[in-house]
Amino acid sequence: MEAVTVFGGGRPCLSSSSIRSSQPERTCSLSCSHKPIIRTQYRHLAAFSSNSHLFSNISSRKTLTKPHIFLPHLVASLENVEESYIMIKPDGVQRGLVGEIISRFEKKGFKLIGLKLFQCPKELAEEHYKDLSAKPFFPTLIDYITSGPVVCMAWEGVGVVASARKLIGSTNPLQAEPGTIRGDLAVQTGRNVVHGSDSPENGKREIALWFNEGEVIQWTSTLAPWLRE
Ligand code: RTP
Ligand code: MG
Repeated sequence: MEAVTVFGGGRPCLSSSSIRSSQPERTCSLSCSHKPIIRTQYRHLAAFSSNSHLFSNISSRKTLTKPHIFLPHLVASLENVEESYIMIKPDGVQRGLVGEIISRFEKKGFKLIGLKLFQCPKELAEEHYKDLSAKPFFPTLIDYITSGPVVCMAWEGVGVVASARKLIGSTNPLQAEPGTIRGDLAVQTGRNVVHGSDSPENGKREIALWFNEGEVIQWTSTLAPWLRE
């Protein structure tokens, strides 16, 4: 059973396909009108049936006469669930670190909602790093990001943006703490293997930038009750 949910609400609409496409209405989308991202929901993966008492919602909660249990992912939905765009850079792919890096975020307990191997066009790299366009290293950075395939990921969770930055470590791998991805796996700023969004707003912006409609999946993790009380 599959349902489609449309998320609009001010989300940036630029998609990688819109950059690659030569169609007029898409090539202008670097500064375009907002199209909602369509996300696919896979409810058949839910841990419990939808009529389970565990799925009690807020409105029914007011009239409860007996104790109810609330699933963590539903409670989390009332908290500030964020999304972060995490990207394994070309050096991470070439060095065979894809599994290792994905594993760090999986083991932490965040939820993977988007994943693909992708050859980044120059225009997309420039848009992604546009805040750094005045930096002297900008051309080198664009060459680096477009030098081979990257792995694009969208991760979801409460506090995922700041936590992912901690898991990744400092920009300069020699200053990154041991135990972080860059601290363990890299030695130079220009080859620091992974990107992570620096704010929840940029998390949403970057996911909309790198993923096409339907590539970000909403699903229910069976681990949720074991990750959040
Ligand atoms: P990222 O955006 O890739 O996650 O990295 P970051 O936040 O830790 O660092 P940021 O300042 O956003 O820089 C983006 C990427 O540009 C390259 N860089 N090179 N040569 C240099 O001085 C220099 N500074 C930054 C790095 O690849 C950095 O990750
Ligand atoms: Mg950055």
